[in-house]
Amino acid sequence: MTKRITITKPDDWHLHLRDGDMLKAVAGYTAAYFSRAIIMPNLVPPVVTGEDANAYRQRIMAALPSETGFQPQMTLYLTEDSEPQAVAQAYRDGIVKAVKLYPAGATTNSHNGVRDILQVMPVLEAMAEVGMPLCVHGEVTDADVDIFDREKVFIDKVLDPLRAELPELKIVMEHVTTSDGIDYVKSSKQNLAATLTVHHLIINRNAILVGGIKPHYYCLPVAKRESHRLALRAAAVSGDERFFLGTDSAPHTDANKEMACGCAGCFTALNAMPCLAHVFEEEDRLEALEGFTSQFGADWYKLPRNDDKITLVRHEQPVDYPSSVMTGEGPVTVFDPMFDIYWEVEAQ
Ligand code: DOR
Ligand code: ZN
Repeated sequence: MTKRITITKPDDWHLHLRDGDMLKAVAGYTAAYFSRAIIMPNLVPPVVTGEDANAYRQRIMAALPSETGFQPQMTLYLTEDSEPQAVAQAYRDGIVKAVKLYPAGATTNSHNGVRDILQVMPVLEAMAEVGMPLCVHGEVTDADVDIFDREKVFIDKVLDPLRAELPELKIVMEHVTTSDGIDYVKSSKQNLAATLTVHHLIINRNAILVGGIKPHYYCLPVAKRESHRLALRAAAVSGDERFFLGTDSAPHTDANKEMACGCAGCFTALNAMPCLAHVFEEEDRLEALEGFTSQFGADWYKLPRNDDKITLVRHEQPVDYPSSVMTGEGPVTVFDPMFDIYWEVEAQ
């Protein structure tokens, strides 16, 4: 039987749109299904100032049809040279919504990130004063910490001390991948939320490593063991408003993924909502989808919920989604959830 659900149009609270030809090729997928997205600033060079963010916002809008209703929510890339007052001012002026903290070396284009959190305390204090959120890539980069433990160690060594020092700072732990992250967010009383990606709700580390190495499932933080995936799913469908969608859709060309030192990232913008409908249906929690994709994030960022709606339809037969999209830089593989997708967002 055909099923349909109509929900408030979703927002994506963590997205990589890139620049140039890649931006032109991928922006439309997000704009088709999402009203707003928090745009990651890890370009080369990074988006560091309000002027950078304004210019990047204009390039995003130029990549979309003029009648688009899509509203990019810009962020600044935190460096050890970021100016506290300039950062706070860009927020007050409404140019940016948040700052992104990348520990230096943690992921794609993070080498300008933060080596020592103490160096950026004045910026974080200025942000706390104006209520500006900090989005955190929560992994340590110490060579002696196992990559599967880096999220937990970050919580213990960096995040928890930071929150004790500056409890007024609003923090989003981006793309949480462990039960430790989920438990930590749940244990907090205030000013902490987390985004969850589509792919981390679907794959565990076997997807990357069993039966040959599968670079298109490699992302950062890397997918963990099954017990962690189950904890993420439970949090996503729980209705707890501290957990909301941030796809971390991160397109890289196949040439850059399928190489000896391949890039991290899964491109999910095209099928994120159908995959999520599948997950929430599997968990018998379709009624919790709207909160996760369309309400809790807006509330957390103190933005109005969207007026527009989308309808998801469950077909009798699997929907044929493209396995890859062409960009001016080369083909980009679309995230393959390894199950048939019956859900589709109805054309508006
Ligand atoms: O998998 C990822 N890709 N994780 C990140 O943190 C960055 C992103 C990217 O920019 O490619
Ligand atoms: Zn990201």
